[in-house]
Amino acid sequence: MSHQPSEITRVNPTHVINTAGARGDPNVDWCETHKQETIRSNIIGAANLVDCCFLKNVHITHFGSGCIYDYDEWHPWGGPGYTEEDEPNFTKSFYSYTKVVSEKIIKEYPNVLILRLRNPIAADLHPKNMIVKLSQYQRIVNVPNSGSILPSLLPGALLLAENKETGVYNFVNPGAFTHNEIMELLKKHIWPSLSWSNFSEQEQRKALQAPRCNLEFDVTKLKQKLKQYGYELPSTIEAMEDAFERIGQLQSRK
Ligand SMILES: NC(=O)c1ccc[n+]([C@@H]2O[C@H](COP(=O)([O-])OP(=O)(O)OC[C@H]3O[C@@H](n4cnc5c(N)ncnc54)[C@H](OP(=O)(O)O)[C@@H]3O)[C@@H](O)[C@H]2O)c1
Repeated sequence: MSHQPSEITRVNPTHVINTAGARGDPNVDWCETHKQETIRSNIIGAANLVDCCFLKNVHITHFGSGCIYDYDEWHPWGGPGYTEEDEPNFTKSFYSYTKVVSEKIIKEYPNVLILRLRNPIAADLHPKNMIVKLSQYQRIVNVPNSGSILPSLLPGALLLAENKETGVYNFVNPGAFTHNEIMELLKKHIWPSLSWSNFSEQEQRKALQAPRCNLEFDVTKLKQKLKQYGYELPSTIEAMEDAFERIGQLQSRK
């Protein structure tokens, strides 16, 4: 039996981009107590949209999550980053569990580009932007992580989508950064009086319902693919400097 996806038939798009998903409010702990809603958005919703696009032969770019890995003995701090080929190894939070399941399902479709976001940072002071949240925490952990500095990455997402690339990409900038490095840059460009203190991962764990992961990605596949289209990806630190400078300039004009 063949079903016609009505919305895609009505709009008749050349491309679909899915940025929908449940990642909890105020944070992923929410997913621990809202499992059905999380499944509906992250697994059923994502798979249904991909399946509808497949039925209509439409390319879909799915913004997924990199929160499906955690440092381990083969991928320690400063060691080799996780590639797209590595098996996800972090399902300790329900949010991450749904992101692993959905990726495993939708990557079986030939019309899908999966871009794994991690610690996305935008060049604005939206309350949900990671930099705003970080600046408001009393204490932060200081572990190296990969991150997606969106102003530098989104042009790359459009290039990949326009060219109907498919498969999985670690969608982060090259080079890991620590929270302290972000705070130093925020202090330099946006909030000169910003101050913070650190606590250990063990102490952080006590304050949270679900465990969190930390990881570094290998970005070779993304860098090489974007280079084919003439797009050079800046390092996380370069991209953050650029984004925070822009925010600082906008703030000083207010
Ligand atoms: N933010 C992060 O740190 C981060 C990191 C890695 C990956 N990601 C992933 O990136 C995606 C976007 O995250 P975000 O931070 O932009 O989240 P967000 O601010 O909460 O936005 C998610 C959007 O998805 C919509 N949505 C959720 N479930 C839906 C459903 N079943 N049907 C239709 N729309 C639905 C929400 O609509 P309503 O507001 O109407 O509910 C909301 O507009 C998610 O898949 C998330 O897991 C985020």
